[in-house]
Amino acid sequence: MPSLSESTQGKLQQLMPGSVIGIVGGGQLGRMMALSAKYMGFRIGVLDPTPDCPAAQVADFQVTADYDDRSAIAELAQRSEVLTYEFENVDADALDLVADTVAIPQGTDLLRVTQDRIHEKTFINQHGIGTAPWRAVNSLPELRSALEEIGYPAVLKTDTGGYDGHGQVVLRSADDLARLESVSADDFPPSILEGFVDFAFEASILVSGNGSDYVTFPIVRNIHKNNILHVSLAPAVISDETSRIATDLALRLADGFKLAGTLAIELFVLRDGSVLVNELAPRPHNSGHYTIEACSIDQFDAHIRGIAGWPLPQPRLLSPAIMVNVLGQHVPAVRAAIATHPTWNFHDYGKAEAKHNRKMGHITILGDDPESLADEAEATGIWDDLK
Ligand SMILES: Nc1ncnc2c1ncn2[C@@H]1O[C@H](COP(=O)(O)OP(=O)(O)O)[C@@H](O)[C@H]1O
Ligand SMILES: [Mg+2]
Repeated sequence: MPSLSESTQGKLQQLMPGSVIGIVGGGQLGRMMALSAKYMGFRIGVLDPTPDCPAAQVADFQVTADYDDRSAIAELAQRSEVLTYEFENVDADALDLVADTVAIPQGTDLLRVTQDRIHEKTFINQHGIGTAPWRAVNSLPELRSALEEIGYPAVLKTDTGGYDGHGQVVLRSADDLARLESVSADDFPPSILEGFVDFAFEASILVSGNGSDYVTFPIVRNIHKNNILHVSLAPAVISDETSRIATDLALRLADGFKLAGTLAIELFVLRDGSVLVNELAPRPHNSGHYTIEACSIDQFDAHIRGIAGWPLPQPRLLSPAIMVNVLGQHVPAVRAAIATHPTWNFHDYGKAEAKHNRKMGHITILGDDPESLADEAEATGIWDDLK
């Protein structure tokens, strides 16, 4: 478990327009970070192996290399005043190696905590915040005894590298366990067993910081299909008490990290209105895209202001809204819908290939009632494959 004490930044040096921000990772999150930064007058470099990746299309320069290529990270650091990242699976040691040539306002401990589910859950619990019950399991015998404690149903997840449900298996009964018995001891990845949470719904809250002050965004309800976010509805319909609990835990985690930039917190809201934290993402998040049109400051502006050491305003929801993801299979129908939906805000990430289930863009729709906006979107039939 990394210690946060040595590398907490406290008050950050304020970064001035004209400075270069280097982004490790050139997907849609990097692209939207870059667009925010450009409005503020920053220059952008991006490290990504794919030439002309989404972020590179709006950046000043690209270092075209793998994310873990240490000489490429050194080059990006050399050409930037500040480094940030758009995903959590960045080589934290490689960033530490360049920390004397470039500012890394988010620090690397935030990465180390969030890229490993055991570190992440330990950190959350140490801050007095609830998660599903969990046990670290590194072998079948450990899994068996963890199941005796936690019981069925449970979810087995790899410690590192999981996303959109990859690296997860739900265990509903001894039959499911039996299916795993064929995994040889050497092939059992370091994992975590979690009790299956019978939540009322999933939600998320974003918190942004500048190293010493923190602000939270409205809480949204998230609907996943096939473990991929499908729709976010803003605001989530929750009691004032649930909202207070979620906001309070977000501020506590932000302070624990001495957060600079945006952190997303995925939540399970239980039927009694209490809240458990599912996982953290040390960056802007898919469920926060609605903030671009619906809030007084969006998650990307807040990220850039935060890592630039600028003061942060309290985000306000200007209008209820929904965000719907556009996956590869939805692209033709969504392109056709441009002609007939003037109130839909179309975002396209500029990806070359529209693969099945690949996030290609999103749509944000403002209105009075998120539920009926979602019904209207579904009624188009564009997303029928997810039913
Ligand atoms: N302990 C759990 N109980 C119930 N559902 C879960 C649990 N863990 C994960 N899920 C479901 O699986 C989805 C993906 O899991 P998550 O831990 O967020 O991994 P990923 O990194 O793939 O997003 C969650 O959004 C939720 O719908
Ligand atoms: Mg998740």
